[in-house]
Amino acid sequence: MVKRVKSGIPGLDEILHGGIPARNVVLLSGGPGTGKSIFGQQFLYYGLTQGEPGVLVALEEHPVQVRINMSQFGWDPRPYEEQGLFAIVDAFTGGIGEAAKREKYVVRDLDDLPSFVDVLRQAVKDIGAKRVVIDSVTTLYITKPAIARGVVMRLKRVLAGLGCTSILVSQISVGERGFGGPGVEHAADGIIRLDLDEIEGELKRSMIVWKMRGTSHSMKRHPFEITDKGIVIYPDKVFKIYRGTYRIEEA
Ligand SMILES: Nc1ncnc2c1ncn2[C@@H]1O[C@H](COP(=O)(O)OP(=O)(O)OP(=O)(O)O)[C@@H](O)[C@H]1O
Ligand SMILES: [Mg+2]
Repeated sequence: MVKRVKSGIPGLDEILHGGIPARNVVLLSGGPGTGKSIFGQQFLYYGLTQGEPGVLVALEEHPVQVRINMSQFGWDPRPYEEQGLFAIVDAFTGGIGEAAKREKYVVRDLDDLPSFVDVLRQAVKDIGAKRVVIDSVTTLYITKPAIARGVVMRLKRVLAGLGCTSILVSQISVGERGFGGPGVEHAADGIIRLDLDEIEGELKRSMIVWKMRGTSHSMKRHPFEITDKGIVIYPDKVFKIYRGTYRIEEA
């Protein structure tokens, strides 16, 4: 029996036939506004409520903004940070600015992978993290596609070695079919893709689990919603795009 980690995202654990296999490194791919950051924050916050410490590596947004965004869904991370159960690694400010001075974990140079890994490892060890989210991993190699696979393999060895179950957010462009490039797609243990499609003048959300090592999973595309409580996925519904329109059917 594989040990599984409950995502805490309503509907997802059913789609994954019980949860994410422990220590998997999951690529969470999607275009802009598809819900990747919210997904990652929800995964981490749920862990906190279950006594599983977590680390969020913020590369896209200021840590202060991340805390505000999380609080808007009712996921205020500050009490957990104060108890040493949650940490944000600031890989956004480069240590510049007044607010950055208050951050405990700061990555100063994103081109320096060894120091990035050192800061991450320190945060994970300090708080005994079981869950890690890197938002987004794309930022680490967007200008250097040749190193993408190496970066992901390095992170995978470190994170799985420390016993973490991890989500690497991968940014793709609108209309792009892949998940972030061949190197990272094969290196990841799992791929979850979030989609936003404009159909008949309206944006519709759906998701699909493309792979998940260590478990069977739904092979269907499922509709999901973002509400003021976070992401809700419908495991008993299938989302079909068909000749320019769509249908939602019983799975
Ligand atoms: N309270 C809310 N209720 C419903 N939908 C919301 C709410 N807050 C945010 N959203 C939706 O979530 C989207 C943002 O989600 P998120 O920040 O997770 O996207 P993302 O995939 O990380 O995008 P990016 O790649 O640009 O960072 C918004 O564009 C909006 O559609
Ligand atoms: Mg985001």
